[in-house]
Amino acid sequence: MSPDTTAQNKSMTHFDQHQEVWLFGYGSLIFRPDFPFLARRPACITGWARRFWQGSHDHRGTLERPGRVVTLVPQAGTRCLGMAFLVTPEVFAHLDFREKNGYLRFRTPLTFDDGDTCEGLVYIATEDNAAFLGPAPEAAIARHIASAAGPSGPNSEYLLRLAEALRELGAEDEHVFAIEHHLLRASTEDVDGRGKDSVASS
Ligand code: BEZ
Repeated sequence: MSPDTTAQNKSMTHFDQHQEVWLFGYGSLIFRPDFPFLARRPACITGWARRFWQGSHDHRGTLERPGRVVTLVPQAGTRCLGMAFLVTPEVFAHLDFREKNGYLRFRTPLTFDDGDTCEGLVYIATEDNAAFLGPAPEAAIARHIASAAGPSGPNSEYLLRLAEALRELGAEDEHVFAIEHHLLRASTEDVDGRGKDSVASS
């Protein structure tokens, strides 16, 4: 599949006649909602796990040196906590462009923090998109993120802001927090002059 999903997303017309739609955010939408919204509420979706498995060519990396950003991968029984935004369907043209590097719109059941449910929409970069990087050890993902940057800024900023936003939401996300831990530990070792080389020579 081409990584540019703009045209494919235009054919997703399911919500076009709706006045308002709940959009589930699990990544940059949580800490960078750069679109108008009518309300926001913590919510979760079930059967999906947040993973730093999607390559970013246009925000947190480049075509030559992609960054790593989150997508959702199917995982039975897993609950992914995020933020739902109530938006009008016009917002999707903006998001289709912003997230054109592999993300497609899907319908999803949503559960709000008070137990209410509804059908909403979520953007997911599936494993068949050309920018998909897939799994790697979390320490390796942290090293990758530490070295990448793109037009939207350093890849590390994306990770740290996401981890902070998830903490504020009270989300337990072992994958994101483990990568954050590796990244922060590596930067502390750099500052202290206790990098790999000095450890090896001591
Ligand atoms: C999100 O934060 O939900 C999101 C992540 C990537 C693309 C679109 C949305």
